[in-house]
Amino acid sequence: MSSLSSKQGPRYRHTSGEEAPYETIGVEKLTPIIGAEISGVDLAGALSNRTMDEIHRALAENLVIFFRDQHITPQQHLAFGRKFGELHIHPAAPHEGDDPALMKIYADKDSPRANGEGWHSDVSCDVEPPMGSILYIRQCPPRGGDTLFANMYAAYESLSERMKTYLDGLTALHDGESTYRGLYANYGVADRPAYPSAEHPVVRTHPVTGKKALYINRGFTRHMSGIPRDESDAMLAYLYQHCENPLFQCRFRWTENAIAFWDNRCTQHRAMWDYWPYTRSGTRVTVKGERPVLKP
Ligand code: SIN
Repeated sequence: MSSLSSKQGPRYRHTSGEEAPYETIGVEKLTPIIGAEISGVDLAGALSNRTMDEIHRALAENLVIFFRDQHITPQQHLAFGRKFGELHIHPAAPHEGDDPALMKIYADKDSPRANGEGWHSDVSCDVEPPMGSILYIRQCPPRGGDTLFANMYAAYESLSERMKTYLDGLTALHDGESTYRGLYANYGVADRPAYPSAEHPVVRTHPVTGKKALYINRGFTRHMSGIPRDESDAMLAYLYQHCENPLFQCRFRWTENAIAFWDNRCTQHRAMWDYWPYTRSGTRVTVKGERPVLKP
């Protein structure tokens, strides 16, 4: 993949070649650069090593993958998440049933808000933010309730070389306090004494693909460190706008019992709450990640 300035051609030009075929799963891309629907997999059944390898590969190549018509129990949802690593416990959100790793996603006519309405990467305020999130939506509104995903490799690669040089090596503060305090009161969740915060590189190297991705988001990033606050505010405002360019996005139209599995290390997402007064409901299992780093 490479970048070009708008004077020379498209803002972003995807140049990676044809990918090798898959043997045990179907992979249908939603756009050239982000999102793919996976077919031929029943997540309620046993998954062979070959299929697991191909799911890993499909996630690395497409950043977010979707499975439709899956009928899984909460235990199977949790077990699928554990195949990718230890499960993450959300620092604030409510969970469904007894297992704190089964996060509840729910909005109906009485909700004051829905989860994840602004662009974000999940819990980036953690010192070790989650690697991935697996959202299972069981009940959908008749229309709407889509989720948008954006490719943060493409966002990084399409910056000018001067901007990349400026950003490489900078860090930013990601803070959960102002995001989470009081956020889940409508579910009857009491606030914790404190919420996490962490300093992360503005550009991070993905531990699997080795590619660089922009790692700032409106949900949690407060300011860049080591530069004046007004400069940081202006830079972040520019970068948020840049990351949210529709060129870098795909949009998933949910159907009941579909699953989205996204990689938080190289994507951002936002949920559309355009379906009031209907109900949208499901659960999310989140997989632990590592401390973000920028490799030279
Ligand atoms: C989230 O940010 O995990 C919620 C996404 C969604 O409900 O589509």
